[in-house]
Amino acid sequence: MKIVVIGMGYVGLPLALLLSKKDNVIGYDINSKKINQLKKNIDDTNEVEKKNFNKAKKIFFTNDSSYLKNADFFIIAVPTPIKKNKEPDLRLLKKATILVAKNIKSQSVVILESTVFPGTTENICVPIIKRISKLEYINKNSFKNDVKGFYCGFCPERVNPGDKEHTIDKITKVISGSNQYAIKKINNLYKSICKKIYISSSIKTAEAAKIIENTQRDINIALINELSKIFKLLKIDTREVLATAGTKWNFSKYFPGMVGGHCIGVDPYYLTYKSKSVGFKPNVILAGRKINDGMSNYILKNIIKLYKKKNIIFTKSRILFVGCSFKENVTDTRNSKSIELVEKLNKLKAKVDILDQVINKDKIKDIKVFKSLKSLDKNSYDTIIFSVIHDKFKNTLKKNYKEYLKNKKKIIVDINGFLPKSDSDFRL
Ligand SMILES: NC(=O)c1ccc[n+]([C@@H]2O[C@H](COP(=O)([O-])OP(=O)(O)OC[C@H]3O[C@@H](n4cnc5c(N)ncnc54)[C@H](O)[C@@H]3O)[C@@H](O)[C@H]2O)c1
Repeated sequence: MKIVVIGMGYVGLPLALLLSKKDNVIGYDINSKKINQLKKNIDDTNEVEKKNFNKAKKIFFTNDSSYLKNADFFIIAVPTPIKKNKEPDLRLLKKATILVAKNIKSQSVVILESTVFPGTTENICVPIIKRISKLEYINKNSFKNDVKGFYCGFCPERVNPGDKEHTIDKITKVISGSNQYAIKKINNLYKSICKKIYISSSIKTAEAAKIIENTQRDINIALINELSKIFKLLKIDTREVLATAGTKWNFSKYFPGMVGGHCIGVDPYYLTYKSKSVGFKPNVILAGRKINDGMSNYILKNIIKLYKKKNIIFTKSRILFVGCSFKENVTDTRNSKSIELVEKLNKLKAKVDILDQVINKDKIKDIKVFKSLKSLDKNSYDTIIFSVIHDKFKNTLKKNYKEYLKNKKKIIVDINGFLPKSDSDFRL
C-alpha cells in the first residue's frame, strides 16, 4: 500500500512517521528546505524526537510531486489560515487538492486532516478532484464501489503542539468517509496507529465537530478574560476567584490569557464565515473573538498606567519580555500575541529585550532574542513582563529574575500568574 501525506508540519509529519512503521509513506512538502532537514532527521517544530525518525523505516520525504502518482491514500495536512479580512484562506488547500487530482488513481481515498468549515471536503475539494481526474466520486448515492472513482474522508487532527501526552496514538481519532466502504478502508488505515476510533455519521458532521472544539475553547477563554477585566475594576484577583469557584464539581477550568497561534484564534472564523454564508450572523462566537483579540491592548493599557503611577518614561525604560512563542513549550511564533504586545511596546519607544529559550528565531522585528538569562545584563531592567513561560525554565527564572531588575521603581507584569500574587504589579 502506498500512502501520501501532503504537508509535513505539526500535523502531517508525526502522522506520516507513525503510518510509515507499517506502510510505505511519501512525506511531501512544497518547502524544499524543510524536506532537506527531514531527510537528515531534523524537525524544526521540535515535535518529533530523533528516535521516532529512526523507527520510521518506510518513509520517503520529497518535494518532487512525480513521486505521488497512484497512491492508495492521499492525506492532506496543509495550513488553512485566514486572510486579513478574517475570512478563510483556502488557497493552499486548493493547491494541494489539485496536486492530488493530478496523481490520483481509481479507488484511491482522499482524506483531509486540515481544519475546515463544514462542507469544504465535499463542496470544494471533491469538485476539483472530479474535474481534473475525470474520476467519479463514490459516495452514499453511488450504486457500486467497483467503478472508476475515488473516495473521500475527513479525519480531523487533534494534535496539541508541545503536549507529549495527548499524541495521535493515545487520543480518540475521529474518522468519516464518503460511504461505508470508504469508512472501512479509512478505519483500517487509522486503526494501525490509533487505539480509539470514533466513526462520525458524515463528513460534514466530522468537519463541524473539529471546528467547534476550538471555538468552544476560544469562547470559554473569552469569558474568563471578560471576568478578569471586571474583577480588576472590583479589585478582586481573578486567579483566586477561579481557584475558589473551581472547588465546585461542575465548574470548568479555564484561565485568562492572550489567545494566539493558528488554531484557536483562527478556526472560529471558519465557522462564522460559513454561518454568514447561510444567512446567520453569529453573536457569541464573534464577541469571544473580539475580546480575545483585544487582550494585548488591554494589557498594554495597564502597563501604561503602571508607568504613569511609578513615574517611569517609556523612552528611557528597558523592558525584558519573557516568552514569545504563541504558547508554552513550542517553538512556533505564528500569530503570537506576545509578539503583538512587544511590537506595541516598541512603538512607545521603550528598549525591549526578548528572552525566549525555545523559539528558533534570533530576531523578531529587529529585536534580538536572548536564549538564556545568563546572557542578559544584571540590574538593568525597569520592567519584566512574564508572558509565555516554558516549563523547563520555570525554576531558574523564578529563582534568578530579580537580579536583572534595577533597584528602584521596578515593574513586574505577570500576565499568566507565574509568580505569587504579591510579587507582581499586574496579572490577568
Ligand atoms: N498545529 C496544530 O495544533 C493543529 C491541530 C489540529 C489541526 N490543525 C490543522 O492542520 C492543518 C495543518 O496545520 P499544521 O499546524 O500542521 O501546519 P504547518 O504550517 O505546521 O505545516 C503545514 C506544512 O504544509 C506545507 N504546505 C503548504 N502548502 C502545501 C502544498 N500545497 N503542498 C504541500 N505542502 C504544503 C508547508 O510547507 C508546511 O510545511 C491546518 O488546517 C490546521 O488548522 C493544526
